[in-house]
Amino acid sequence: MQSQGDVSCAADDRKRKVFVKSYGCQMNVYDATRMTDVLAGEGYEETTAIEDADLVVLNTCHIREHASEKIYSELGKIRQLKQERAARGVDTKIAVAGCVAQAEGGEIQRRQPAVDLVVGPQNYHRLPELLRRTGNGAGVVDTEFPVEDKFDHLAPPTAEKIRSRGLSAFVTVQEGCDNFCTFCVVPYTRGAEVSRPVRQILDEVERLAASGVCEVSLLGQNVNAYHGEGPKGDAWSLAQLATRIAQVPGIARIRYTTSHPNDMRDDLIEAHRDLPQLMPFLHLPVQSGSDRILALMNRKHTAADYLRQIERIRAARPDIALSSDFIVGFPGETEEEFRDTLRLIEEVKFASAFFFKYSPRPGTPAAGMDEQVSEEVKAERLARLKALVDKQRDDFNHVMLGQTVEVLFEKPGRRPGQIGGKTPWLHAVHVDGPQELIGQTARAHIIEIGVNSLYGRLVDSQTEADH
Ligand code: SAH
Ligand code: SF4
Ligand code: F3S
Repeated sequence: MQSQGDVSCAADDRKRKVFVKSYGCQMNVYDATRMTDVLAGEGYEETTAIEDADLVVLNTCHIREHASEKIYSELGKIRQLKQERAARGVDTKIAVAGCVAQAEGGEIQRRQPAVDLVVGPQNYHRLPELLRRTGNGAGVVDTEFPVEDKFDHLAPPTAEKIRSRGLSAFVTVQEGCDNFCTFCVVPYTRGAEVSRPVRQILDEVERLAASGVCEVSLLGQNVNAYHGEGPKGDAWSLAQLATRIAQVPGIARIRYTTSHPNDMRDDLIEAHRDLPQLMPFLHLPVQSGSDRILALMNRKHTAADYLRQIERIRAARPDIALSSDFIVGFPGETEEEFRDTLRLIEEVKFASAFFFKYSPRPGTPAAGMDEQVSEEVKAERLARLKALVDKQRDDFNHVMLGQTVEVLFEKPGRRPGQIGGKTPWLHAVHVDGPQELIGQTARAHIIEIGVNSLYGRLVDSQTEADH
């Protein structure tokens, strides 16, 4: 394909390489695949060696201050690399994508002039055109929220690409958020909540399944609020979508993340009871166990509301594993209010959890609240919360000892002769077993519990070996 402008014929002849580094959430991991698929059409092949890259893309996260600031130190290092390559007569382009790009726009190039392109998450379909506009000395910035649907214009992956990415794939079904929790930048960086149409998602899932994908994780910042256009123009719920995806040949497991407690509707809970492909794991962030803090966070539910939701879900699917996000040290959080969070954790018993020190984000209401909590207090509360959820995770893992579970084997294990996979509840499992089992579900008897994974023995192959 012939391109115009600054790209010389010699450069066109050479296969160009792109290196993408993603930070933050799973949606960024998914977006990275979509970006590399678009760039493949421009002759870029992926590399894992940054020093070989003609184009470096940092796919950034803005969620906490630490995540954002990391980008600038990384950009400093990449600038050096760019200079070294320039001394050898090789051009390197630097692009900043993701949520920092959306939030800071042109400011990024003011802080780091070596950056050629800043592109927000809604504009990845425009990458080829934007890249062509770089190189004339001025930086290119695109952080508009376009009217067109980027998914209509993003190139699909080839079968070879899908196979190289493994058996489990992410699929964004909903993007953006209208909840405006007072601590959170996501409504500003990802924009208003938008659900993809059912047909578009099914096309993507069918393509993935045709190339061997057997597990899909449906992604959205508020995924259980999904209300995409169905085949007859009506709005489908996440439960309807999951039920339809379960009919795609080859799809053995369906997961979804992240959900909001206020959007756990009856049909989704019933799907956890009735749809065997829907895995018994639910990430349902609560953030705090204190009603006063929840109100200040604009979560629009109380701790009791959350516990009621958990009760409904457990009534439908008693073995469901639950996980959550917690923020400690939100402005004004007292010791007693923090203990309310610990009490809620004690009551629910989580399989796992993510926990963060509150980080004031520019432009969000909570950043301007009085009574910001000191770093020392945040650190101390975080350690106490961590100890509790670590203990709950260990308890949850130990329940598996001696049990026989279905494991979807996804990849070779750490040691030769081993294979690794996941239980329905997301435990990582390793067994000694044949590579041919990769891509299949088999039963394993759990014989040992490690810190991060379980060890098992294949039940069926054991039986075969015995006979
Ligand atoms: N869409 C998801 C979460 C997005 S961010 C949801 O609504 O649950 C992931 C987690 O980061 C949040 O659940 C929250 O616990 C944490 N987080 C977001 N903003 C934060 C901030 N300013 N400081 C600390 N943690 C934050
Ligand atoms: Fe952020 Fe709240 Fe929306 Fe989650 S629900 S993305 S925490 S604003
Ligand atoms: Fe981070 Fe944006 Fe995801 S801020 S958590 S990359 S939606």
